This record gives sequence, structure tokens and C-alpha cells, in this order.
Amino acid sequence: MAVPESAGVAVGELLLRSEQLARQEKRAADRQHPKGKLTARERVLALVDAGSFVELDEFVQHGCRDFGLDADRPYGDGVVAGHAEVDGRPIAVFAQDFSVYGGSIGEANGAKVIKVMDLAAKIGCPVIGINDGGGARIQEGVSSLALYAQQAVRHTNASGVIPQISMILGPCAGGAVYAPALTDFTVMVENTSHMVVTGPDVVRAATGESVTLDELGGPHTNASVSGNAHYLAQDEDDALDWVKTLLGYLPSNNLGAAPEYADDTAAGITDRDRELDGIVPDGENRAYDMTEVIARVVDDGELHQVHQAFAPNMIVGFARVAGRSVGVVANQPMFFAGAIDIDASEKAARFVRFCDAFGLPLLTFADVPGYMPGVDQERGGIIRRGAKLLYAYAEATVPQVTVVVRKAYGGGYAVMGSKHLGADVNLAWPTARIAVVGTEAAVQVLHRRELAALSGQERADRERELAAHHHDTIGTPYAAAERGYVDAVIEPSHTRLAVTRALRMLRDKAVSGPTRKHGNIPL
Ligand code: HXC
Repeated sequence: MAVPESAGVAVGELLLRSEQLARQEKRAADRQHPKGKLTARERVLALVDAGSFVELDEFVQHGCRDFGLDADRPYGDGVVAGHAEVDGRPIAVFAQDFSVYGGSIGEANGAKVIKVMDLAAKIGCPVIGINDGGGARIQEGVSSLALYAQQAVRHTNASGVIPQISMILGPCAGGAVYAPALTDFTVMVENTSHMVVTGPDVVRAATGESVTLDELGGPHTNASVSGNAHYLAQDEDDALDWVKTLLGYLPSNNLGAAPEYADDTAAGITDRDRELDGIVPDGENRAYDMTEVIARVVDDGELHQVHQAFAPNMIVGFARVAGRSVGVVANQPMFFAGAIDIDASEKAARFVRFCDAFGLPLLTFADVPGYMPGVDQERGGIIRRGAKLLYAYAEATVPQVTVVVRKAYGGGYAVMGSKHLGADVNLAWPTARIAVVGTEAAVQVLHRRELAALSGQERADRERELAAHHHDTIGTPYAAAERGYVDAVIEPSHTRLAVTRALRMLRDKAVSGPTRKHGNIPL
């Protein structure tokens, strides 16, 4: 059958547009590749399953007539958006194209972004935003601000409903960093990523300070100092891999379950389990690596750490126990003896809340001398900001299993998944020391007058005697076990099996909180 002439014209129009899109993609590649960056479309395609990406609104154009913009109206308006699958599970995605007005967001491309976010909310799938741009498009004025504010509303309403992940793959400013800040996880890349509220030019104009983009918001600053970034990737491939692995631990939404794998873990105690019996050093103040403990309890020793470069005295990350996803929270004695400072509290609190929102059980390992003392901490708000972790654990209703490995002193004991905050199963190793303060501090506080009257060897002997008494009475895990505050004191080598049993028992735990609009976590 002959094709009607009108159909031929219509197909021709599509071909013309496709050619224009191809020219735009080449221009984007020419600009991005020399900087070691992929184009927006290449990034999306590298993230998702082959052949699964369905692009939406590729012919959208901006309607701005000012600043000569009417002469340059590229298709797509600088954002690639649509839906796809990762490991066969649906996701929504948008990626800013830095080659079009510096990846800035205006009325038309902003509408594309919120359209895929609305779609993600409707179908209950994660949304991944790939940011590479200067924020609100300056030429479009209030329209760009309006769209960013509307995007912020979407991120807020989706919080705790669908996982939201942000990738920062270029110099990002304004809305391109505030929107990610509202999401659950933010990934940056060595060398090419920057996150700043305003760039160096604006800083110079506003405050007279002369700083480089790297000093202001380079990837290391954001990953280890401000904590804005949850992962610092070596390159874009590494960043995309990290996100894909992360998605594998998460449910698609707060009503769904995370992907479950077959439980092929050993049913009896293994040699690797027995290694736990020798992992805690004899000296109470000697450091060891808590990730070595975690690796012997979770499946295949795999922990997908989040925020690894930030507050290293606290470990948080995703793992699996008997094939099911869990969130792991642990003190790290290798840094600040595992004490909880402001950053550690905020890091763990946010993670605990994420896990609770998405139904992921919490597995906590405690070895903590307490909250971090000091002028900087007090002035920085350790009271208000340290309380966040108390709040997060106290409001959590997901299954919770806690293992006290060694020290659990003072507020550190209370906050690290204690029974009193709502943990379901609390285990302690024989090496556990649960007390208000450490042995030495206890002796000095309680026996100050007596010790002041002594000196030399006599004083040292008495100190040792009092310390031994404290150590063997108040400080043992049995004081807590006798009160039911720990459910069992177990040999370290039994931990994996005890944790597995506990999580299996808690699988269908259902607890509902009080009826209220929302709580008011100390911010
Ligand atoms: C329009 C922009 C732009 C923007 C960059 N460009 N940012 N165009 N609106 N916001 C354009 C530049 O003019 C340039 O165009 C191209 O993008 C590349 O920018 P460069 O400056 O050459 O790149 P670079 O040196 O890498 O610096 C990137 C940058 C810087 C750090 C992002 O461009 C910058 O500081 N931009 C302004 C950031 C900003 O103040 N944004 C508004 C924030 S307010 P040509 O044609 O020369 O290639 C905001 C409110 C959000 O976002 C509200 C949230 C609720």
C-alpha cells in the first residue's frame, strides 16, 4: 500500500527532529568528554538495564524570549528524563545536560523533572537525579525558582515513601545542590564534582573572599567535612556502580520489600565465626577494626558503607543477613575510640531514620565510650545534635537487634540500640562492659577523697584494687543480663547464628506509633 503524502511529511518531520537531537548529543559529547564527563544521556544509559530506558519529553523547548534565548531553543531543554529498569526493577531518572545553559533548570525542563518525580511517586519506584548544573536558570528568573521550589515539594513528599538518590557529576550550585540535599543519598566523583550554594564569583562579589571552587565545595570537602556527600567515587563508572549496588539493598517504596536472596549461609558455627572469639583485644583501650566484626556476621562479609569518609568513628551501611537486607550501625573504635560526636550522631540518626522509613531491620554493634566531651562539641551543639540519634532509635519500629561487643558507657550505652529505646533483641559478648562511665573514671569520681589521702605505691595499689572491684561487679555484662537489659550473653562465635535467628523471629514485627501529624526531631 502506498504511503499517503501527508504521512511522508510527518515522518520527515520526525527525522529532522531526530537529526537535530543527534547534533545536540554530539555537541554535548564534544563539551563533556574532554572534561572526563559523560553526557546526560550516556549517564542514564550507563545506569539502567540495556534497552529499558523510555525517554519522556525529548522535544520540550523553553519558552523564554529574553536575553536572546528565543534564537536557541534546543530540544529537551537540557534535561534527559524518563523511566527505566535497574536489575529488572523500575526507576525514574532525570539528568541535567551541562552543555545546555550550564545544566540550569528553567520552566520547561523543570516541568520535565517534576513530571518524572510525580510518576515515581505514583508507581512507587526510586528516583535518581543526575545533577550537573548551575541551579536556577538566571535568564528565566522567577520561573526557574518556582520550578525548583516545586521540585523541593516533590522531594519532601517523597521522603520516606520512595528512595531518592542524587548524583553530583559536575559543578553544581543553587537548586542543583539544595534539591539533592533533600534526597536520601548523594554521590560525588573525584575531580569533576563540586557542590556549592553559590560559586566563587558570587562569593567574591558578596563577601570579598577569594576561593577556588574546590576549596568551597570540592568532593573531599563535601564527603569528609560537611558530610553533604554519602559516597565519593573515583570516577563516573564507580559512582554509577555504587548507586546500582545501593538500589539492590532497598525496597522500591516504603510499602514494598527489599529484594531477597536465597539463604545459603552455614547453619552451624564455622571457622570464620570462631575468628570472632579472638577479635577484641585484651586491653580495654586498644583499637580494632569493627568492620572485621561486621564482615563475620553479615552475608559474604559484604557491607555497602554509606558516608564512609564522614565521621569515621561511626559506621553505617547496608548488608544482608540470611539473604535479607539490613541496616548496620556500629561504633568504630579505630577513630576517637568510637565516641559519638556531633557528626557521628547526625550520620547515624539519618541512616536509622532511612532504614525505619523503608522497613529495613537495624543491626547495631556497640563499642562506645560515650558521647564526645570537649569545648568544640559543646559549643557546636552536641546536646541538641547528639539527641538526634536518641530520637531516631526511639522512634524506630523496625526489627532491631543489638550486639554489645565491648564498651557501652553512659549515653553511648543508652543510644546505641539499647533495649530501653526499643531494641527487640539485645546480645552481649563476655567482653562487654556496660556502665555509666569507664572503670578509671568511676574510681576517680567515687573514691576521690579516699585516694587523695594516699600517695605513691599505696595509692596506685588502692586504685588497682578499686578498679578490679568495679570491673568485676558493676561493669560486667551480667549486671545488665540479670535485669533483662540484655537478653543473652553469647560467645562471639555464636553471633551470626544468634543475629540470624533473632531477625527471622522478628520478621513480621508490627508496631505502630502514636497518632500525630509528625514528630519534631531536634534539628
Ligand atoms: C544560566 C548558567 C547558569 C545559570 C551556568 N550557566 N550557571 N546559565 N543560569 N544558573 C552557564 C554559563 O553562563 C556558561 O554559559 C555555562 O553555563 C557554563 O558555565 P561556566 O561558569 O563557564 O562553568 P564553570 O566555570 O564550570 O562554573 C560552573 C558554575 C558557575 C560553578 C555552576 O557557572 C556558576 O557559579 N553558576 C551560577 C550559579 C548560581 O548562582 N546559580 C543560581 C543559584 S540560585 P556559556 O554560554 O558561557 O557556555 C538557585 C535557587 C534554587 O538555584 C532554589 C532552590 C529551592
